[in-house]
Amino acid sequence: MIPKIIIHGGAGKRPRNKTRIEKVRKTIKEVLERSRPVLEERSALEAVVHAVSLLEDNPLFNAGTGSVLQADGKARLTASLMDGSTSKFSAVINVQNVKNPIRIAHLLQRERYCVLAGREALTFARAKGFRYFNPVTAERLRDWKRSQGMCGTVGAVAIDARGNIAAGTSTGGVGNATPGRASDVASTCGNYADGRVGISCTGAGESIVNLALAARIATRVIDGMKLQRAVEKSLKELERAGDKAGIVAVTKKGELFYFYNTEFMSYGFLEGDKLFTGK
Ligand code: GLY
Repeated sequence: MIPKIIIHGGAGKRPRNKTRIEKVRKTIKEVLERSRPVLEERSALEAVVHAVSLLEDNPLFNAGTGSVLQADGKARLTASLMDGSTSKFSAVINVQNVKNPIRIAHLLQRERYCVLAGREALTFARAKGFRYFNPVTAERLRDWKRSQGMCGTVGAVAIDARGNIAAGTSTGGVGNATPGRASDVASTCGNYADGRVGISCTGAGESIVNLALAARIATRVIDGMKLQRAVEKSLKELERAGDKAGIVAVTKKGELFYFYNTEFMSYGFLEGDKLFTGK
């Protein structure tokens, strides 16, 4: 199998600032290039963690550094990881003052209780050596009250040379939301991988949960539907429910797919020597 990875930096309204769009595209390209050696020399799981943590470190996105703030002015970070080779899902939900929530989700892959939330998730992370880090940027503080509807959740799905699939997603959620609001990313509705397919979603979290979007697409693929048809059908259903989203996905045959019914989604993929970035 040729190792492949597809990533996104969120779906939503098209940013008005063209320079910002170009910066996002350039970042997506750099993240793919820097993830290539990890994917080729290690595994899909490690490549996904690497790609998502690079995206978390860039304040352009709504994940890790640069996460939007909830209505009480706090950034609560959520990230999840699913290893398709074990079908194990792990996640950290609404954790504050850490740099890379995806790395906590990675550590949780080894734990029996692998989804942790809030203060106790932070206690776990600190005990494992995750230091204090303030992910709040001046731009997010300035835009705090008007950040609803912002895009910028990040995600990655990869398949490695052994044919193992992994998916990871990270987000600051919805700007100005009720404090403690939990994202779809904290569930297999927003992030899913097994031996046959991997999916990362971005968009309206509540609707993604209502439709169990990633799990719905995966079930259709497992039952024999073509990936493209499964995604398009599921996003049509989401649209009928009045909402929009974007997804990136990989199948065990090595098919890569992206789709969005929002105005905009930033994404890119790496497939052997081929690197492609959308805008
Ligand atoms: N899909 C990101 C969120 O709604 O939290």
